[in-house]
Amino acid sequence: MKYIDIKNGPSHVSRIILGCMRMPALTVQDAARQIETAVEEGINYFDHATCYGNGKAEERFGDALKETSLKREDLIIQTKCGLQFERGEFDWTKENILNSVNESLRRLKLDYLDVLLLHRPDLIYDPEEVAEAFDELEKAGKVKMFGVSNVPMMQLKVLKKYVKQPLCINQLQLSIAASQLIDQTLYVNDLSTDMSIDRDNGLLDYCRLEDITIQAWSPLQYGKFEGCFVDSDKYPELNKALSELGEKYGVSKTAIAIAWILRHPAKMQAIAGTMNPAHLHDYCESTKADLTHHEWYQLYLASGKMLP
Ligand SMILES: NC(=O)c1ccc[n+]([C@@H]2O[C@H](COP(=O)([O-])OP(=O)(O)OC[C@H]3O[C@@H](n4cnc5c(N)ncnc54)[C@H](OP(=O)(O)O)[C@@H]3O)[C@@H](O)[C@H]2O)c1
Repeated sequence: MKYIDIKNGPSHVSRIILGCMRMPALTVQDAARQIETAVEEGINYFDHATCYGNGKAEERFGDALKETSLKREDLIIQTKCGLQFERGEFDWTKENILNSVNESLRRLKLDYLDVLLLHRPDLIYDPEEVAEAFDELEKAGKVKMFGVSNVPMMQLKVLKKYVKQPLCINQLQLSIAASQLIDQTLYVNDLSTDMSIDRDNGLLDYCRLEDITIQAWSPLQYGKFEGCFVDSDKYPELNKALSELGEKYGVSKTAIAIAWILRHPAKMQAIAGTMNPAHLHDYCESTKADLTHHEWYQLYLASGKMLP
């Protein structure tokens, strides 16, 4: 495993995070085994959200962690708030942020969160309320650090004007097959392809400029959770390229697909969503493959993109 220090955020964090969105499918015993496997692989960072399994992911993790002998202080535990599917709204009000954190801590059976992310934009958010909520949470020792997920540049700028704590993370979708976060730059000003459409206003470079670490979610999925591209017959060329580079580096195709994300100089983290210990080992082997500049492009093109 390799580690980075997140500027204005937690230090010595693993490049691979275990995402717990799919944890409700496991028994408590299997969840405990997956958490232990993650730690054996060198992972020290765990991602949650209140909405995963409508609270069940946090609950399962909390129960499972008690079954292990792991020490709380050795783990970085993050959750997200604000996405209220059950109510049909996104809610960044002070009341909701505070309630949400209390509920997450209860389900996770923890006294504090290392990191809290605002999940998806609330269209009628009040940044002063967010600032008050963050101050209260910090003062009460319930949350150490703060960030966002799927939040665009202008909203980040507004938040930064009011919130006094640094926003150190933006969690965004990125995989070789779902690379809309980076595509537009290559096709800028090109009328011949929709790839030139700027979907997020240069968010990747804004995050780099502001030292906001990007956490790449769904690193093996195409579309939006449509399936895993590794071994998918929808991506024959990509699988061939993954396989060839896997042979070169002595690792699996999955490892190469994750190495492609880690090779980006923005020093992102990749959030592994697998609940299978053998698959998790494959994700973690990615840190053994330092892809060359040329290999990064080889994989990008093999996923179906072309040079302008
Ligand atoms: N911020 C956001 O809006 C947002 C949105 C979505 C997700 N997330 C975070 O990102 C994490 C990861 O998301 P994700 O689960 O979609 O990521 P992922 O790692 O891209 O996908 C995991 C899925 O791929 C399957 N898989 C893995 N290796 C495979 C292989 N070799 N062959 C076939 N299937 C394979 C896994 O099945 P097995 O379990 O059987 O391996 C699992 O169903 C989540 O847990 C969550 O923490 C954040």
